[in-house]
Parts: sequence; C-alpha cells; structure tokens
Amino acid sequence: MGRITVLDENMVNMIAAGEVIERPASVVKELVENSIDAGATKITVAVEDGGRKLISVTDNGCGMDAEDLSSAFEPHTTSKVKISDDLRAISTLGFRGEALASIASVAQVRAVSRINVELAGNSIEIDCGSKSELMPTSADVGTTIAVRDIFYKLPARRKFLKSANTEMSHIAEQFTRIALANTSIDFTLVHNGREMYRLTAEQGIRSRIAELFSPETADALLETESDEKGLHITAYLGKPAIAATSGRLQYIFLNGRFIRDKFISHAIKEAYRGSIDPSRFPAAFMFIRMPYEDYDVNVHPTKIEVRFYNANLVHSQILACIREKLLATDLDTMARAPQASVPTFRRDNRITEAMEEFFRRHRPAGQRQIPFTADSAERNFRVTSANSTMQPAYAETSRKFMQVHDSFIIAESDEGFVIIDQHALHERITYEHLRKRVGDNPLESQKLLVPESIQLSKAQLDVLENNSGLIEKLGIEIVPFGLKTVAIQSFPVLLSKAEPGDFIRDLTDILSEKGDTLDGDTLLDEVLHMAACRAAVKAGQKLTDGEIEQLLADKETIEHSSHCPHGRPSAIKFTLTELEKQFKRT
Ligand SMILES: Nc1ncnc2c1ncn2[C@@H]1O[C@H](COP(=O)(O)OP(=O)(O)OP(=O)(O)O)[C@@H](O)[C@H]1O
Ligand SMILES: [Mg+2]
Repeated sequence: MGRITVLDENMVNMIAAGEVIERPASVVKELVENSIDAGATKITVAVEDGGRKLISVTDNGCGMDAEDLSSAFEPHTTSKVKISDDLRAISTLGFRGEALASIASVAQVRAVSRINVELAGNSIEIDCGSKSELMPTSADVGTTIAVRDIFYKLPARRKFLKSANTEMSHIAEQFTRIALANTSIDFTLVHNGREMYRLTAEQGIRSRIAELFSPETADALLETESDEKGLHITAYLGKPAIAATSGRLQYIFLNGRFIRDKFISHAIKEAYRGSIDPSRFPAAFMFIRMPYEDYDVNVHPTKIEVRFYNANLVHSQILACIREKLLATDLDTMARAPQASVPTFRRDNRITEAMEEFFRRHRPAGQRQIPFTADSAERNFRVTSANSTMQPAYAETSRKFMQVHDSFIIAESDEGFVIIDQHALHERITYEHLRKRVGDNPLESQKLLVPESIQLSKAQLDVLENNSGLIEKLGIEIVPFGLKTVAIQSFPVLLSKAEPGDFIRDLTDILSEKGDTLDGDTLLDEVLHMAACRAAVKAGQKLTDGEIEQLLADKETIEHSSHCPHGRPSAIKFTLTELEKQFKRT
C-alpha cells in the first residue's frame, strides 16, 4: 500500500503559514499592511502578553462587505491582483492572498467589518481553519481583526515563542517600520492596556523618528534628496557620531515597503567609507520611489526582499546621493559638555587639561599669540610641503594654535576652537594625497641613499612577486639580494616618513591576507590606508609651528578631513556658545 497521501486543505494552510507567520510580529505586519491597502488613515494595534494572547488591529479603511468578509480567510483570495500581468507592477503591500488564511489556520480569529454604504457590519470567527457563519453586527466603518492564542494547536511552534518582552520588541520593530513608511496615517500601539506609541498623521518624518527612536537620533540626521534616472530618493542620513554597532538604524523603504537589500546596504557602507569606523553601521532612513515595473517583489514569502532589474543603477544612484551629501557637509565632531549644572572635569583627562591650558594662555587680559618664528615656519613637513596647496587659511588670519602633550593641537576657529588629533588628521591628509596621486603612473619615488635590505620568508617573497604590478604602482623598487633577502632601492616620496622595511612587511601581510578576496581597487585602498597610517606623524611627536600650520591649512583643503581613513574623528569642535553656557555666562 502506498505511503503517500494528499494533505487536506487545512494542513496545507498550516504548513504554508509557517512561511508567512513566524511569530506574533508577523501577524501585526500582515494585518496592518492590509489596513493600509484598505486606505485606512487611522490604525490601532492592541496587543496582550507580547501578542501571545491577543493581537487586534482596528482600522477605518474601506471595510469588507459580507461576501468579501466570508471569502477573505480562504486561501488564495485577494482583491489586489487578478491576472498575471498585475504581478508585473504591484502597487499594494499585499498581493498573495494568503496572509489571512495563514493567520486563521494557526489561531482563533474574530473579524468585524463594515463598508460605508451599509448601516451595519458583519462578523465572522475562524478557529484554526474552521469557519463560523457570518453574523450581522453593529460596527464602525472599517475592520477589526482580533487574533487570539496563536499556535495553540501547534505546541511545537508555540514552544518556540519567546518571552512577552522579546515578542513585544519584535512587534514594536514591525510597527516602527510601517509607521516610518506611512507618516500620513495615525498609528497607536497599546500593550497590556498601556499606550506605547501614539503617532499622529502629518507630524513629519523627523518627529516620527524622534518619537520612535530618540530626539537625539532625529537631530543627527542630514536630509538629502535626488531624482535621477527614474529613481527618487529621499534620505535622512545619520552623522558619524550616531553610527551603531549593527544595522539597527538602517531603514530602507521602496515605494512604501520596508525592504532589506544587499546592494543598498553595500552602497550605504561604501558611501560612508572613511567617515565612520568600518566596524560600525551608519544610521540611514531611505525612502526610494521607482516604477513598480522596475523590480519584482514576488521573490520572498514575507516580501522583505525584492529583485531589482537594474541593481547596478540602484547601487550607483544611492551611493552618489549619499556621498554628495556627506561631502557637502561639515562632519566635524561637536563637543558636548556635560549637562550637569556644574560642569565636572576629570583632572587626568588630557583633553580637559588641554582646554584649561588653552584658556590660561588665551585669557583676554594677557592674550598673546604663540611665537611663530621664520625658522620654524621653514621647517615644514618633509612629506606634505612639496604637494600642498595651503598657506591661504591659517597664516593669513593669524589663527592661534598650540600643540599639547605632543599629541593634540588646539586651534582657534570662527565658532570657538577645535581640538585636533594630529595623527588622525595627518593620516587622512596623507591618504587623500596618496589617493589623488596613485593612478596610471606610479607614485613619485626617490632612490634610497643606502638600499635597505630585509629578510622575508618564501611565502612573503612569493606574495611580493605575485603583486609586482601593485608594488610598481606604489613607486617601490625591490630587488632580490640573496636567497631570502630583498633590497628596497626606491621608495615613494609621499611615504618618506614611513620606515621602508616595516612598510614592506605590513604590505606583504595585507597582500597575503586579502589579496585573493578583494578586487584590485579595494586592495589598493587597503594598502593606501596602511601606508597613510605608517607615514603620518604619531601621537607624542613634537611638531614645529610650521608643521602645525601646514596641517591646519591642509585640513581646509582636503575632503573628509573630519575623520581619519578608519572613520575615527580627527577633530572635535567646541563652540563659544557651548562654552559660555557651561561657564554660566549666558
Ligand atoms: N483590513 C482590511 N480592510 C479591507 N479589506 C481587507 C482587510 N484585510 C484584508 N482585506 C481583504 O482581504 C483580502 C485577503 O487579505 P490577505 O492579507 O489574506 O491577502 P492580500 O493582502 O491580498 O495578500 P497578502 O497575502 O500578500 O497579504 C485582501 O485582498 C483584501 O481584499
Ligand atoms: Mg495582506
């Protein structure tokens, strides 16, 4: 006797529900999306016990008449698509006609709905797939769907539900995504009778972000817009200071639908490269509009992924839009003094000491400029002076500056003063110079008076040989000098502060570690990061006035000067207003 039987429809639905309804939060998502598709302007989500006991969604949308209410919970029933052509341009959030059937197959559901041309509504109950008769019921126009005891007949799945708090945080996340994408709708979220969010329509995206995240997050966003090649992008980009340790502050919406997309995430990461630490994730709220025909949303059961027909275009437009904004923005880190009524300073804090010293030396009565001798001015950076376009900025305006602890530079600015991390800033300057100069021709190099010989392993020698093109591009000349020894004969001028032997060893490390996985450009970039770090002045290194002037002048002329190539801040700004507030002058 055969072992194979055809599953009954309810079993089929229960199994299918596994794809769509993973946990209470999935129910919230599906019900609220239906309300939005129904044209609701007011949606209330009420939840008990993290959704394990009850999830109820009430809307003032178009409602369903008796016939539709009765068929809405059947599998494959939808009012949103009719013929296969409709699937090519889906403008509604739902279209599969399976969400309500899936929900009703794994829980106790009661739905009440009324359309505006009728005076009363109808209700229906479905208990894990078995449906009651329709009952006439008094109701407001719109729909309420209440889902109780999810998975109660599926103990194996019920067991996997987490604590009420955890399930509630998933629900809040779904609620957040939908509320961000639909600012013209009033949303309320209630948990165990307590109102968690009441978001009013037309309050604008910034105040919605402030309510859903925090006012600080909303304040740290830069708004930008672009409309090219059929792609309309409105983005709220987080300043580097609010970058997170995960992608939790990245929200991408495509025509009002929250999506995850690896091309878009990559474009965001790429655009912020050098502005934030590579291990962190920038905050970004992106609202993309494009023709429905230009992508397929029918690729994932929960519709969280889409397939772009021209993913490269999406990537390049987003990258350009973000980059342009970041480049046009002063991303210097602003110092925030403590909010306490009496400011507290830690005596062992080097920056605090630097500030105090700055004030001592620049108090109004005895104000004087740090001596600037012709001799010190002449001793400019060996590395940067040859290439610099400086001298317009600090010398002319006689800005005051000083180096403290041989590590930081304090310089006066229009708004107050700025504390600069000398290594981080010089690293960025060197990196930008290298990046600009490395191209089709090798970097300008100089012959070493005495070639430096270094010992390398066989593997390291192989790596150097396999990457001879890149090494040549850097302006480095290496010749074999015995079995495991090479002599460095020429070295790039821009890296003259770096120690050639150490540099070559680091270079072989990068090449052997990443040479096989990175494309040529990215690999070169990694090498330039390392080169800039090696060639930059170090913390603890005394600088001449001329060198400091050069740094300050270069800061004005290079791109991304607010952060080192690894994304750490290179300068912290202190405004007079903030200082006056802290010293109780205002
Ligand atoms: N809140 C609501 N107001 C009015 N009509 C609704 C509501 N919820 C569901 N419907 C109707 O019930 C139908 C079935 O809903 P269901 O969520 O199962 O499918 P869908 O939204 O069409 O597609 P998907 O499975 O992708 O969500 C919808 O197409 C819609 O006509
Ligand atoms: Mg739906």
